[in-house]
Amino acid sequence: MTSAQLRASFLEFFERRGHTVVPSAPLVPANDPTLLFTNAGMVPFKEVFLGREQRGYSRAATSQRCVRAGGKHNDLENVGYTARHHTFFEMLGNFSFGDYFKREAIEYAWTFLTEVIGLPAERLWATVYEDDDEAARIWLEEIGIDPARFRRIGAHDNFWSMGDTGPCGPCSEIFYDHGPEVPGGPPGSEDQDGDRYIEVWNLVFMQYDRDAEGNLHPLPSPCVDTGMGLERLAAVIEGVHSNFETDLFVPLIDAAGEIAGVSDRGNASLKVIADHIRACAFLLADGVLPATDGRGYVLRRIIRRAVRHGYQLGIEEPFFYRLVDPLERVMGEAHPELAERRELVEKILHQEERSFRETLEHGLALLDDHLAQASGEVIDGDVVFKLYDTYGFPVDLTADIARERGLAVDHDGFERRMAEQRERARAASRFGGPRQEVVDAGESRFTGHETLEDTGEVTALYRDGESVQHLEPGEEGMVVLDRTPFYAESGGQVGDQGVIVANGVRFRVEDTVKQGEAHGHLGRLEQGRLGVGDQVHAQVDEGTREATVRNHSATHLLHKALRELLGDHVQQKGSLVAPDRLRFDFAHYEAPSREQLEQIERRVNAQILANLPAEAEHMAFDEAVQTGAMALFGEKYGDTVRVVSLGDYSRELCGGTHVRRSGDIGLFKIVEETGVAGGVRRIEAITGERAVNWAQEVDGRLRRLGELLRVSPENLEVKAEQLAERTREQDKEIERLKQKLATQAGRSLADEAQEVAGVRVLAARVEGSGKGLRETLDQLKNQLGSGVILLAAVEGEKVQLVAGVTKDLTGRLAAGDLVNHVAIQVGGRGGGRADFAQAGGKEPEKLDEALRSVPAWVEAQIDE
Ligand code: ALA
Repeated sequence: MTSAQLRASFLEFFERRGHTVVPSAPLVPANDPTLLFTNAGMVPFKEVFLGREQRGYSRAATSQRCVRAGGKHNDLENVGYTARHHTFFEMLGNFSFGDYFKREAIEYAWTFLTEVIGLPAERLWATVYEDDDEAARIWLEEIGIDPARFRRIGAHDNFWSMGDTGPCGPCSEIFYDHGPEVPGGPPGSEDQDGDRYIEVWNLVFMQYDRDAEGNLHPLPSPCVDTGMGLERLAAVIEGVHSNFETDLFVPLIDAAGEIAGVSDRGNASLKVIADHIRACAFLLADGVLPATDGRGYVLRRIIRRAVRHGYQLGIEEPFFYRLVDPLERVMGEAHPELAERRELVEKILHQEERSFRETLEHGLALLDDHLAQASGEVIDGDVVFKLYDTYGFPVDLTADIARERGLAVDHDGFERRMAEQRERARAASRFGGPRQEVVDAGESRFTGHETLEDTGEVTALYRDGESVQHLEPGEEGMVVLDRTPFYAESGGQVGDQGVIVANGVRFRVEDTVKQGEAHGHLGRLEQGRLGVGDQVHAQVDEGTREATVRNHSATHLLHKALRELLGDHVQQKGSLVAPDRLRFDFAHYEAPSREQLEQIERRVNAQILANLPAEAEHMAFDEAVQTGAMALFGEKYGDTVRVVSLGDYSRELCGGTHVRRSGDIGLFKIVEETGVAGGVRRIEAITGERAVNWAQEVDGRLRRLGELLRVSPENLEVKAEQLAERTREQDKEIERLKQKLATQAGRSLADEAQEVAGVRVLAARVEGSGKGLRETLDQLKNQLGSGVILLAAVEGEKVQLVAGVTKDLTGRLAAGDLVNHVAIQVGGRGGGRADFAQAGGKEPEKLDEALRSVPAWVEAQIDE
C-alpha cells in the first residue's frame, strides 16, 4: 500500500461509517490568534467542539496539513536528527461532535489498524489516562487486548490540549512495536522515547474547555478527536523504520541529493531539506509570507535553515524552490492548493534564498573567525546577536550549526542583547506622553470628519507619562479633550497637527494618538497655563490635513487600481498616509514592470480627472462586505463599520478622513517601488502640490544635467550612453590588466606546488584577505586543475587560512580537515566543506612550521 492509498482508505473507512470527509483546512487557523499554525486535525473544528458553531454533520474525517514549529507543539530543532520529527506532517483524524464517544472511537481505530491495513494485534499496544476506567474496560473487555500490552499513564502523555487554552481531554494512545531489534522500551517505561514503540494514533476524548487561568469547563457535549500521523503509519506499512524512507520523502530526498551530488539517502542535511520544503511550500500556499515576526518569521527561519543545509552540502545556487516540483508530484493530488499557488511559492522561495545567500557566507565566515579565536563550549551571545542582527541568522539556525560542532549557544546573552535593542526603541516615547497607552483617559468625541475647528473641555493632562492637573508654560505633554476635530493616528493615517488655544493659552499639537477611546494631543505649551476643566478651541492645521486626505483618498484609488491591474491576490499589507506622501505595502510576488506602474498611475489619475464624489456611510459589517466593500484581511472590525466610497470606483472599510471629490487630489505620481519582504511590495507616491513640485524638480534637474554635459535635455540619453560605453571599455581594460598581474603572481605560486603521493600540494603565504584570498584560491585551483591548496595571510596578530581541494580529490581528503590541521597549530580552529574551508588563528609565529607540515599531512591522508 502506498501512502496515497493509505490516506484514501482511511477516509473511505470513516465515510462508510457515516463521517463527512472534509478537505484539509489551511495551515493558518481562521480567526484564531491564540494559535500560530494548525497543529492538529482538530484545529479547524475548535469552535464546533466548544459548541459555538454548528455544521451540517456530527461526524467528520480529514487528512489535515499540520505544522509544528514555533508554537506550543514545536519540533523544529529535532528535524533531521530523529526518524520521525517533522515541521510539517499530515494528520489523519476522525471526529465526533457530540455523537459517538469512547467505545466507537476505540473500536473504529482497532478495526482500521487490524482489519483494513492488517497490522498484527500482537504488535499493537494501548495506553489510557490513569483514571480513565471506562476506556480501560473497553480495551480490556470489549477489544480484548492482552493486558501485557496495556498501560495506564499520567497526564503528561495522556491528557491532550490544543494550546494553553481551548478544548482538551484525556486520551488513549495506540503504539506500534517495531520489533526487538530496535532499541527502546514500551510506553510508560524509562526508555519509552527509544525508537522501538512508536505512537501511531492518539484518541482524545474531548471533555473540557481550558480558560486562560487554567480552569477546566465541561464542553456542551463530549466529543472525539483522533490523530494519526500519516508519515509514521506509512513507515509501518512500507516496512521501513524511518519516516524519511517512505514514499512521501524519498522522492524529495533524491531530488535534493541530485542537485547536491550526494547519493546517501541517510544524509541529515538532505532529510532536513526534504522536511522543510514541505512546511515552507504549504505555508506559502496557505498565505504566509516571510516576515520579521509572527508566522512569517517562523517560515523565514525554516527557509533559512534549509538554505544553510543546502550550502553545507556544497550547493552553490538557489535550489530550494526546485523541490516544489517533486513535492507537487508527491502531494499535489491530495492537496491541490499547492498547484494553484505554485508560481508564487517558487518565486518567493527563490527570492528568499537569493537574499539570504548574500549574507549567509559572510555570517558563516564571521562565525568561523569567532570559533577560531574563542575557546569554550558556548558561542557567545554577542556573536549570536550579531549574526541575527547583521546577517539574518535566526537563533535556531546558529544553534543548529553549533550542534553540528558539539557546541551550544549562549541564549541568555542573546536575549540580553535583544532586550537592550528593544529598550532603545522604546525610549523614543515622545513629547512627555505616556510611555504606554493609558486606558483611563476617558473618551473623546471626534468631530474632524465634519470640521477642522471645534470647542472642547480639557478632560486630562499628562506630563512625563504621569497624569497632572496643570501644564506650565514651556512644558511638553499630552492634552485630552472631550471633543476634538484632531484625527488620531490609525489605519495608517498619521495624527493631525495644529493648535489648541484659549484666552492667553497656546498649545502646539505635533501629533495626535489614540489612547483607548480618547484622542491624545501631543505637543508643547507655548503660552499660558493649561488646566483640567479649561474650555479650549482646537484648530487642526488645514494645510497638512488637506495634504494628508489627498494621500489617503489616493491610497484607496491605488489599492483598487492595483487589484484591477495586477490581480485579486493583491492584499493590503500595511499603509502610511502622511501629509508629504503615501506608502502602500501589498502582497505581490514580483516587482511590477515599468509599464505596469505607468498603467497604474494612469488609472489612478483617470479617476482623479473623473472628479468622483467621496461618501462615507455607516452600516453593518456583513452588509458592507455584501455591497463589495474591501475589508483588510486579518483585521478585526466592529459590528458597525464605516464605508468610504469614491464614486463607483472604490469602496473600502475605513475610519480615516478623505477629500470631498477625487479631483481634490490634483495629481498622483508614484515615486518609488521596492520590495520590503518576500512577496510584499511597497509603492510610495505623492499627490497635489507635492506632485507638481516633483515634476518641476525633475524638469530642472534635466536642464542642469544638460548644461553640465553640454547637450540639450533631449540629447541627454545619447550622451549618457556614449559615456557609459566609454566607462565599460575602460573597466574592461582595467580588469584585463588586473588579470594579467594576478596570473603572473599566481603562475609563480602554482609553480611552487609539490607532488606528494601523486597529488599536487601547495601550502603558501600570500597577501590579501577575505574575498581576495578566496579568489586567489579559486584561481590556483583552476591553474592546478587537480590538487590540494592551503593559503595563509597574516595581518598583525591574526592569521587567516583558506583551504581548497579540487572536486576529483574531495573523496579522499577534506578541505575542512586540512584547514583545521593547520589552524590548530596556529592557535585557532575552523571547518567547512569538503572542497572549501576557512579558519583563523592568532599565533603567526607558528605559521611557517604549520605550512611545512602540510605535505606530510596530505600524504598520511592519502595513504589511509
Ligand atoms: N489532537 C490530537 C493530537 O494531536 C489527536 O494528538
